[in-house]
Amino acid sequence: MRTQVAIVGAGPSGLLLGALLHKAGIDNVVVEARSPEYVLGRIRAGVLEQVCVDLLDAAGVGRRMHAEGLPHDGFELCFDGRRQRIDLHALTGRRVMVYGQTEVTRDLMAHRASVGRPAVYDALDVAVHGFDGKSPHVTFMADGKAQRLDADFIAGCDGFHGVCRASLPVAAFSTFEKVYPFGWLGLLADVPPVADELIYAHTGRGFMLASMRSRTRSRYYLQCSLADDIAHWSDDAFWNELRLRLPPEHAERLQTGPAIEKSIAPLRSFVTEPMRFGSLFLAGDAAHIVPPTGAKGLNLAASDVALLSRGLVEHYGGSAERLDHYSERALSRIWKAERFSWWFTSLMHQFPDAGAFGAKMQRAELDYLFGSVAAQTVMAENYVGLPLS
Ligand code: FAD
Ligand code: PHB
Repeated sequence: MRTQVAIVGAGPSGLLLGALLHKAGIDNVVVEARSPEYVLGRIRAGVLEQVCVDLLDAAGVGRRMHAEGLPHDGFELCFDGRRQRIDLHALTGRRVMVYGQTEVTRDLMAHRASVGRPAVYDALDVAVHGFDGKSPHVTFMADGKAQRLDADFIAGCDGFHGVCRASLPVAAFSTFEKVYPFGWLGLLADVPPVADELIYAHTGRGFMLASMRSRTRSRYYLQCSLADDIAHWSDDAFWNELRLRLPPEHAERLQTGPAIEKSIAPLRSFVTEPMRFGSLFLAGDAAHIVPPTGAKGLNLAASDVALLSRGLVEHYGGSAERLDHYSERALSRIWKAERFSWWFTSLMHQFPDAGAFGAKMQRAELDYLFGSVAAQTVMAENYVGLPLS
């Protein structure tokens, strides 16, 4: 097989890149290690920035998102029984879209199938070769046969645990990492959300986020210990703990039900520099991770692939400038989102080793944010995200 761009990974970054390249008439093949059902079973992001919404529209996959997604004009912050609405729309003129990553992926998969671009699922032993020379190619096993996919470029869209970043010579890149001393225990259930907007709460028992996927499906998260075992969190234990962390008015009206999904995610900040090695480009979680507090991971993946697809389009049009600056331009957005996600995470969680001074600083920062329209504006600008330059 031969193609122009071999895309490793069929998460949101790989599939969106494929759709944007298809729109521009650039041939591409997606190679994914898992089955479509497995990919769709991963419950992750829920909040899309306007840039991400615009990209899905540009790729021709926005119809269901506009019909079923929920535009949100703000969210609520809580601490010490105090509540502050962050009015995104009043402060920035922009809003966000609540629409699940699972649905984005489903729409991108359906679009890819409808335009007939190839995607190989359940590929075994995926490996990338020749990206530092003249013969970039991907090898894998599919349908019991060894396959070779030659390409002009390889896009590493294979997430944090993928093969692309792991195949780079260690001397070719640097990584920057912070691992947080807690995780998020998430639960998805078909019960109406406890409020119309998202609620982020700093409580004495740890962080809580009340989110949603629709008017009938809720997504809740609780800060938990990294030592916690998901098998020890019954649905009842989750709902009881959630009730203790919700503002009392919301706790009273909480509706509970059986979990559709329940999992623990560790929290990490991570960046790889640079994001290009010869003809291999990293995008999305393959290159960087943010803790989910700022709702930035999927949005960054989308802006990476927008920058990459523009670079590739210009390359095939005869200009190398954009592709040569891909890494630099992507990283400039990424570090801003890393800073915001780190700041919001640091503000809202209980840190076991922060000490009394650390706890006082956190409270002082929350107090300042609650009392300052200027600070809320900065927060809102970061939450809705930067326009794509
Ligand atoms: P992935 O989604 O990880 O996709 C990578 C794909 O590559 C996978 O399908 C994987 O199976 C495949 N793969 C791996 N290895 C190989 C291989 N060797 N060969 C071939 N394929 C391979 N982001 C937001 O923007 N907003 C939010 O509200 C938000 N909430 C989140 C909540 C939680 C609990 C978590 C954990 C994350 C959240 N995120 C959020 C982050 C977001 O989910 C990720 O940033 C996003 O999934 C990144 O997409 P990706 O396509 O780069 O990587
Ligand atoms: C989610 O709904 O999964 C979600 C929403 C906002 C976040 C993180 C996750 O900040």
